[in-house]
Amino acid sequence: MSKIIAVVRKPGPSFKQAISANPRNLPIDIKLACLQHDRYVAALKKIKVEVISLPSLQKYPDGPFVEDTTVILGHVALACPNKEKSRQGEGSSIHKEIKKFMAIEKLPHSITLDGGDVLTTEKEIFVGISKRTNRDAVDAIAKFTKKSVIPVEVLSGLHLKTSVSYLGNNILVLDPSSIDISPFRRFKWIENGKPNRYSSNCLAIGNTVLLSKGPDEVVNKIHQERLKTIRLDISEFEKADGGLTCMSIIFKKM
Ligand code: GLY
Repeated sequence: MSKIIAVVRKPGPSFKQAISANPRNLPIDIKLACLQHDRYVAALKKIKVEVISLPSLQKYPDGPFVEDTTVILGHVALACPNKEKSRQGEGSSIHKEIKKFMAIEKLPHSITLDGGDVLTTEKEIFVGISKRTNRDAVDAIAKFTKKSVIPVEVLSGLHLKTSVSYLGNNILVLDPSSIDISPFRRFKWIENGKPNRYSSNCLAIGNTVLLSKGPDEVVNKIHQERLKTIRLDISEFEKADGGLTCMSIIFKKM
């Protein structure tokens, strides 16, 4: 089996200034964020993922949300033109690392794209049309893949993957109130409501699903699909609208 790699970035002191639409506006506890990040890395290692851990970047408060900088399409990676000014340039040190494994392609200036809006399945790539990602991103991604690239309206929440995750084997976890579910009709899904939104963002690797706190009902349904779960408290990352997938870029070592 090919090795799975995860690129992650540690939070640093500037993570306190990460962008947040969180209405509670709770301050981020950096010490706790670092501890939660260490546990995240430990969970990845436990399931035999090789972790490349990049140092924190004072200049980029949202740096730990590495997923938004890069879209992996198997053989090639796309450098995301991030819409948020404070995040522009965040990807360059990550792309240097990923270039050791695959080519990185740039996208035209008309495009805005966050990796958190890209959900990849075996045959399709779903692209959230959100506050961060525009429609031009759909055609741009399609130029680099043979998979169908399908736009999905994001109705609330930061990104598409805030509200939907793919577990493999045709199964999704999703919050139907936050996205247009019509493009997902052919899938089987485990439903999760808005109050538990953060547990719709799961990170599935092989037959293990990493998920944040949420109702046991969702966990039980994941177990019924013969998948294992690891639950992680990432409260400090959720305060900045981040989820488990945001905290890594996952790809197979060729
Ligand atoms: N805090 C994650 C983002 O807004 O990009």
